[in-house]
Formats: sequence, C-alpha cells, structure tokens
Amino acid sequence: MLCRSADLIAEAHASGSGIAAFNVITLEHVQAVADAARRTGRPAIVQISQNAVRHHGGDVMPLAAAVAAAARGGEMRLALHLDHVEDMALLHRTAECGASSVMFDASRLPDAENIAATREAARWAHGQGLFVEAELGEIGGKGSAHTPGVRTDPADAARFVDETGVDALAVAVGSSHAMVSRTAALDLRLIERISEAVPVPLVLHGSSGVPHTALRAAVKHGMTKINIGTLLNVSFTRAVRATLAQDPEVVDPRRYLGPARDAMTDAVSDCLMALTTSDSP
Ligand code: G3H
Ligand code: ZN
Repeated sequence: MLCRSADLIAEAHASGSGIAAFNVITLEHVQAVADAARRTGRPAIVQISQNAVRHHGGDVMPLAAAVAAAARGGEMRLALHLDHVEDMALLHRTAECGASSVMFDASRLPDAENIAATREAARWAHGQGLFVEAELGEIGGKGSAHTPGVRTDPADAARFVDETGVDALAVAVGSSHAMVSRTAALDLRLIERISEAVPVPLVLHGSSGVPHTALRAAVKHGMTKINIGTLLNVSFTRAVRATLAQDPEVVDPRRYLGPARDAMTDAVSDCLMALTTSDSP
C-alpha cells in the first residue's frame, strides 16, 4: 500500500530505528524495491530524484505512476518521495504525482540564501500537506562544487531547522554521493551531536558507500532516513554485463533486465534486513 513518508519516518524516529529510501530510475528499480519490501516485510521509501525526472524527459508522472501501481494491492508499505529537487516547477508537482514528501535542495546556495529559499519552499509545501526535507552543508560528491570533506555544524543545523521549519534534515557527516565501494567512514560522534541539537529526523545521503555495520551504528547514534541509490545501479549494471558477456548475441532486453531486477531486489532486501539486524548480542 502507498503510505505517507511522514508516517514511516516518524515511526522510525520514535523507535530509534532506520527507514531506508531507495532512488529509482527505471521500472525495474521500482519493482525491485516493491519486491524487496514484500519479501522482507519492511517498509521502504521510493525516491525519484530531479535527475531521474530529467532522464525521463522532464516528466515525473510515468515513474511516479509506476510506484503507485507497485504499491497498490500489496501488503508492503511504500511511500513516494521526490529527491534533490531544485526546480520549483517540479516541487510544485509533488502532491500531484502522488509523493507525500520532498527534499528541497538549495544547498548549492550560500547559507543565508539556502535558508530563505528553503523557508519559502517549506511554507508552500506544508500548505499542501507535504513533509519537507532539506540540506545544510553540501554532501560530498553531488557535483563538482561539492567537497567530500564537508561537515555539518550542530549549531548551524539547529538554527537552519528553526529558521526554515523543515521536517527532516540531510546532514554532511562523512558519506559521499555515488560511491561504488563501501569505504566511507562516518563521524558517529558528529551524528550524535547533531541529533541532540536538532529536533527533527536526520537523513544520511550517499549511503551506498557506507558498510552495513556503519549504517546500523549511524542509526544507533541518531540517524533516521537512509538514502541509497548507487548500490542499486551497481547491482543492475553488473547483472547486465554478466548476461551480455555470457551471450553476446542477446537482443531481447527482458533477457538482461530480468537478472538486473533480481540483482537489485537482492541488494535492496539486504539493506532492509541490515537496518533491522542488531550488532549487539
Ligand atoms: O539522495 C540520494 C542518495 O543520497 C543516494 O546516494 O547514490 O550515493 O547511495 P548514493
Ligand atoms: Zn542524496
């Protein structure tokens, strides 16, 4: 069933657990997340980024409709979120496409302008009943202007949330977007300090580069929403390469998209299970 992101995030925040959010690009990505949620019995947020929308000719509707259709009639709990939205026209389509939450990303702007733009976006989105995530401090790897060493200051984070009224905050604590190896080292003490300073749930971006044990530790130290994208694409592309290498004559896309979808379902299931497994005896 299609749930509201706010409910899944609030449930995780209140219980000190994590809620995973997966970025989707193709129909197979959507099916993989839905199948993994069904298989594991865990809720998940499905995210469509502005970049993914651009890939689909600027129209969010086809992929959003696929998420709604995948959620319909199933027991698994899925929510739809728009991710890294910088374009006001896309922000304004959030509710219309069936998403119940949006990350408004003005983090490329200087802090004062980020605060002003985010406050205005949050005011508008709250009027539509939407849950709003925003970002202070650039999370490394998002673009050439972003430095992997960037960190969010707890006092700045508290001020940002207070002045903008956002419902969740993405923070820079050591992860970096688009990593294909799980070698990122998170600053757990900083996560703890930010979560003590900030009243809203925290969001970890670039989680594909973070080992499962570190993701669990991050949740234990106060992280709530765990954004995962590249990991699905690594699984997808590895499976496509293996199928094509095995049979270079293949032309029917179902022959390689099927294994790609299965590989993503396994990867998503592993993440969902990892976030619920405890490291303590
Ligand atoms: O907003 C999306 C996430 O930050 C995904 O990052 O592709 O590095 O896992 P990732
Ligand atoms: Zn991100």
